[in-house]
Amino acid sequence: MPDKIPKHELPPGSRTYKLSDPCQATVISNEPLHLKDSPDDLMHTVIDIRGTDYRYIEGQSAGVLVPGTREDGKPNKLRLYSIASARRGDDGKFETLSLCTKRVHEPHWDNADEMFRGLASNHICDLKPGDRIILTGPVGKHFALPADESMNLILMGVGTGVAPFRSFLKHIYEEHAGWSGQIRLFYGVKTQNELMYMNEANDDLEQFEAHANFRAYVARSRQDKQADGSKVYVQHLLRDNAADVWELIKDGHFSMYICGLKGMEAGIQEAMETMASENGRDWNAMRDEFKAQGKWNVEVY
Ligand code: A2P
Repeated sequence: MPDKIPKHELPPGSRTYKLSDPCQATVISNEPLHLKDSPDDLMHTVIDIRGTDYRYIEGQSAGVLVPGTREDGKPNKLRLYSIASARRGDDGKFETLSLCTKRVHEPHWDNADEMFRGLASNHICDLKPGDRIILTGPVGKHFALPADESMNLILMGVGTGVAPFRSFLKHIYEEHAGWSGQIRLFYGVKTQNELMYMNEANDDLEQFEAHANFRAYVARSRQDKQADGSKVYVQHLLRDNAADVWELIKDGHFSMYICGLKGMEAGIQEAMETMASENGRDWNAMRDEFKAQGKWNVEVY
């Protein structure tokens, strides 16, 4: 079994808040990430964690507990959200934590005449500055950045799956500087209106394109088209930029992160199988080794 690559460690003295003793924090701001023509509600929520022991690293998730009980009298279930800020927080002083949330309000999967309203996402999207928010965690150390800063990073996300990548890139380019590996972001959204952190509502990620070792590839599924007229998904970008990607991963000096819809995985697998076989390699054997080394990191829902 190959050794696991070392990853970033949690700060000394960090604590994990449990459901039985959660962290009480306060909302500082809650701003839209979508443009006004979008049917979606996408929010960037900045939370004040001063006076708490909440400390996190890039790639971790926070639990959000909606106060109250369900119809059956049991407490509302905890929901996990990838943290969108880097460890210092958007204020740069270790005093805040940010979330990136899409309001879930869609036809019910059992009955299309009914609408399903996601409890936690609506709770977060409706928060106002000064409101209390109950957090648990942080959890998910496995999705952390590699300790070796010369490693190439391939980041693949759709929708709010971009949250941990904002966190990574903010840490790399704003808090730390000195990452020498190449970084590629593959990002899938519906249209420019939902291109979070890369449109007129908020351009936090767009700014990093000025760095020579960073490149972003974007798929707007309901706007861009493949040559045959079909939708462009994030995995098609992987296929279309196979030469660039293969160069970064072929020696195994990379770490790959996949975050977003479960459906992405099959398409990524297909693109990687093709890429590897065109280069005379067996993708499944490569992937198993990368997984065992902690270089293949998947967080899908
Ligand atoms: P689409 O909905 O046009 O089919 P959302 O904004 O709802 O979170 O979705 C994020 C993006 O992921 C959308 O562009 C959506 O495309 C796309 N998507 C949906 N299914 C898949 C899939 N199986 N693989 C990759 N992307 C997908």
